[in-house]
Amino acid sequence: MIKRAYLDWNATTPPHPEVLAAMAAAAADGWGNPASLHADGRAARRYVEDARKAVAQLLGADPRDVILTGSGTEANNLALASLAAAAKAGSTLVTSVLEHPSVLATARRVAALHALKLELLPIESSGIISTEALHKLSKEQTIGGICVQAVNHETGVLQPLERVLEIAREANCRVLCDTVQAVGRLPDLWLEADYRVVAAHKIRGPKGIGALVTRPGAPMARVLEGGAQERGLRPGTQDGMLAAGFSVAATRAIDGSNRYARLSVLRDRLEAGLRDTTQGLVIVGETSSRAPHVSSVLVPRWASPELVAALDLEGVSVSGGSACSAGTVSLSPVITAIVGEEQARGAVRFSLGEETTEAEIDFAISAFERVISRV
Ligand SMILES: Cc1ncc(COP(=O)(O)O)c(C=O)c1O
Repeated sequence: MIKRAYLDWNATTPPHPEVLAAMAAAAADGWGNPASLHADGRAARRYVEDARKAVAQLLGADPRDVILTGSGTEANNLALASLAAAAKAGSTLVTSVLEHPSVLATARRVAALHALKLELLPIESSGIISTEALHKLSKEQTIGGICVQAVNHETGVLQPLERVLEIAREANCRVLCDTVQAVGRLPDLWLEADYRVVAAHKIRGPKGIGALVTRPGAPMARVLEGGAQERGLRPGTQDGMLAAGFSVAATRAIDGSNRYARLSVLRDRLEAGLRDTTQGLVIVGETSSRAPHVSSVLVPRWASPELVAALDLEGVSVSGGSACSAGTVSLSPVITAIVGEEQARGAVRFSLGEETTEAEIDFAISAFERVISRV
C-alpha cells in the first residue's frame, strides 16, 4: 500500500540507485585531489573528466566547453557574469520575471555592475514571454544579451525558444538558456544557446554539482579567484565522488525524454482528478505547450502554504511558490506574473518524475479530495 507520493520532482529528484552505487565506489577510490599528479589524484581526476564527457554528450557539446560548478545556481551566475562583462556598456540585458532567482537576481546585479539597461519582458496569459515585445525591443535598442529559460520551473510551460534564438541571431547577441528543468526531460531545443545550465540533482544525480555548457567562443569571465581548476573559471577542489554521481546521472539523462514523455497521461489523470474535487480549480498554462510532468494548479479559497502542509500530512509532497528558496513557500513571482496576486495565493505545483506511478497519482487525488472537503 502506498504511504507517500513524492510529486515534487522539480524541486529535486531522488538519486538513482546507479548514481549512489557509483558515488560509493568513488568515495572509496576517488577521494584524492583531482589536481594532484600522483595515482590518487589521477583516480579522482578520471571521475571529474568522465563527468565532463557525460555532460558534453548529454548537451551535444565538446567536453572542453563544459565547466563543472557547484550547482545550477552557480552556473547561471557564471554565465550571466560572462555575458554581461562582454556586452557593450549601455546595451540592454533582456530577461523576465519567469526566470529562476539565480537568473533574475543575478541579471539585476550584473546589469548594474556593467552599466547595462535591464528590460523585463511582458508575460502573456499563456505563461510565456512576449516575443513580440522582444522583437520590438531588438529593433529599438542594442541588445547586450537575452536570458530565457527552456521550461518554466513552476508551470512546466515551454518558452518560445526557437523564436528567441532567431531574434538573438538577428540582433547579434548572446543567449543564456537556463535548461536546468529541461535537460533529461525534454528533447533539446536549446542547442544554439551560448550558455546552457545543468544541475545534477534535477536529473537524479547528487546535489553540490552542476555544469555550465558554452558554445565554442562564448566569452567567459571570472567570478571567483583561486586555483586553475575548470580553466580558472570555477576554482576550488573538485570532488571525485560528486563527479562520479553526475557522470552516471548525465549518461542516464541522454534518453530521459523518452521516460518523461509517458508522464503526460499521468499528469492529465491528475488534473482531471483534481478538477473533479474542486470547483473553479485553474491549471496554469493549460492551453500552452507544456512539459509532460508539471502541473501548477490554483485552488480557490486556499493559501498555498496551508495546502502544501495539509497534503504533506496526507502523505503527498508538493510545493507552493518556488521550492528552491530554502523551503519557503512565499507567493510565487512566476504565478503572480501570469494570473495576478489574488489567484496566485492558492498555487500548488505537482511535478512528476520518471518513477511516478498511476497508483501514486490516484493516492494524491484522494488525499487532495480529503483535504479540500474539510473546508
Ligand atoms: C529553472 C531553474 N534554474 C536554476 C535552478 C537552480 O539550480 P540549483 O538548485 O542546482 O542551484 C533551479 C532550481 O530549482 C531551477 O528550477
